[in-house]
Amino acid sequence: MTKMLNQAPTNNAKLLAWVNSWVEICEPDAVYWCDGSKAEYDRLCNEMVESGLATRLNPEKRPNSLLFRSDPSDVARVEARTFIASEKKEDAGPTNNWIDPKELKTTMLGLYKGCMHGRTMYIIPFSMGPVGSPIAKIGIEITDSAYVVINMHVMTRVGTKVLDVLGNGEFVPCVHSVGKPLAAGESDNGIWPCAPLDQKYIAHFPETREIWSYGSGYGGNALLGKKCLALRIASVQARDEGWLAEHMLILKLTNPQGESKYVTGAFPSACGKTNLAMLIPTLPGWKVETIGDDISWMKFDEAGQLRAINPEAGFFGVAPGTSMKSNPNAMLSCAKDTIFTNVALTDDGDVWWEGIGTPAPAHLIDWKGNDWTPDMVDADGKPVKAAHPNARFTACASNCPAIAPEWEDPAGVPISAFLFGGRRPTTLPLVYQAKDWEHGVFIGSTVGSEVTAAALDVKAGTVRRDPFAMLPFCGYHMGDYFKHWLEIGKKGEAKGNLPKIFCVNWFRKSAEGKFMWPGFGDNSRVLAWVFARCAGTGSAKETEIGFLPTVDAIDINGLEGEVSAADLEELLKVDVAGWKNELAMIKEHYAKFGDRLPQELVKQLEALEARLA
Ligand code: GTP
Ligand code: SPV
Ligand code: MN
Repeated sequence: MTKMLNQAPTNNAKLLAWVNSWVEICEPDAVYWCDGSKAEYDRLCNEMVESGLATRLNPEKRPNSLLFRSDPSDVARVEARTFIASEKKEDAGPTNNWIDPKELKTTMLGLYKGCMHGRTMYIIPFSMGPVGSPIAKIGIEITDSAYVVINMHVMTRVGTKVLDVLGNGEFVPCVHSVGKPLAAGESDNGIWPCAPLDQKYIAHFPETREIWSYGSGYGGNALLGKKCLALRIASVQARDEGWLAEHMLILKLTNPQGESKYVTGAFPSACGKTNLAMLIPTLPGWKVETIGDDISWMKFDEAGQLRAINPEAGFFGVAPGTSMKSNPNAMLSCAKDTIFTNVALTDDGDVWWEGIGTPAPAHLIDWKGNDWTPDMVDADGKPVKAAHPNARFTACASNCPAIAPEWEDPAGVPISAFLFGGRRPTTLPLVYQAKDWEHGVFIGSTVGSEVTAAALDVKAGTVRRDPFAMLPFCGYHMGDYFKHWLEIGKKGEAKGNLPKIFCVNWFRKSAEGKFMWPGFGDNSRVLAWVFARCAGTGSAKETEIGFLPTVDAIDINGLEGEVSAADLEELLKVDVAGWKNELAMIKEHYAKFGDRLPQELVKQLEALEARLA
């Protein structure tokens, strides 16, 4: 018998019937409707500390914060187990995994049957976007993970207030289970529950706008408002309704004269969105404030201006590499009230990770729960990492010192520029500007990056194409997605106020393998040029690949000893041989899309080839 821990705070008949149907399938011990309160958050935290799943950090060092260690098999998104189960295979396209929706539902229902034995089923009503705002979308996530509940509290707006706004309206149904039923009397014993890899499914049904996730408790696999709803499902809705749902940070850039512009940036996972969104400029008089660090929803307003909102309420940020030097605003965001996952624990109850900016302590508990000392090496003689490379902090946006006052404005902020970029050790210059919208779409469609640790099953280090940084997040055929971007351009052009498009690369390396550009706060030097170009100033030369800044257009004052005039020239030149190699890679990438590749992009490629010949 399932115990009802509280009364359903809704009369929405469809919602009640949907929840009941999943209670019957999953057979939880108990059902609990989340109210979104602080008391609820605190109670669940305490329960997880008591059960041994979480460690409470030293309140004097890290107030109101917890550390979780996940299962070593469950540390990142699993792209090979992520499915777009559209009715027709061709609608998922060549970049998504596809299974027939009927077949997938049958398989998954088999797994869901009785999967919540020994567990509580939590019902999480959540809003992506400010509660009640006309652009917000409501989802309801069913989950058997209290870790998911507390993360959703931070990352989205959760609770009864969402149900009040929902009334009898429509919601995106999201089902999640860690996939580890317990036998009578059995407990997790403090061990992160999840299912083996071949039983993990992160499934999306785009036509019916449903999300079913099974077997993983980590990040984008389990916090279903984020990548599953706000990108994969929302991208399908955006295509149908004429707007954009993108994997983009949003920042507010203010020049020394006090004029502001809003800029978004699409970089693949773990390629610098959070860092850019919170940047502290090294250029005197400039200011950056944060609107969002991962996802942007954009619509044209009545005047034809594209406006963006951040649908999230928190940051699920990469910990390694984050320090008071590289990203003080992120460090301050996670100074308290934070959920840490897979970082290392110090002997005095604080956190540590590689690149935190303080020397490794003599002893730590590493992310696997083992004793760790700085001299430890693995079988290949490489240092053993104390934190997992995809270790994360979950922190609320309101704790970020750089958060812009208008970050929750339901009307969104007007966008002046899009940046595209990835980790490219060679060829791609520090920055260049697209000739026009179509050329910008070409640039977005060809984004490439060295692979990072943000996904479990792609080989780190190699360059892969990640168009618009949406490769793992587009809910439909990528060729149609390119077409949608071209159509948005036509729509905006008619109104005459489209954002300008730029390509940036903070990750060029020298022959010795060192980063040639200091990055982080010094990226403000590039943002200042972007600002100037949007304002109609900013000197540039037109080249084969687009508009490159003239060498004097990027201010390198104060970078003496780090970036010389010769380095800058190298960072801003067209490497013709490198670009010819790039052309070959783009052709290979484009070949995947067959006749769904828009002719405009074929022409862009041919024109680039002709210019480079
Ligand atoms: P997701 O949350 O996975 O989408 O990642 P993200 O795009 O927000 O990346 P994030 O800002 O967290 O950066 C990931 C890693 O890149 C961190 O280890 C950063 O320290 C590093 N990084 C960010 N910006 C720069 C930069 O300008 N230069 C260099 N060299 N590294 C950077
Ligand atoms: C990403 O991988 O782009 C992330 C982390 O932002 S996750 O939420 O796991 O998708
Ligand atoms: Mn991301």
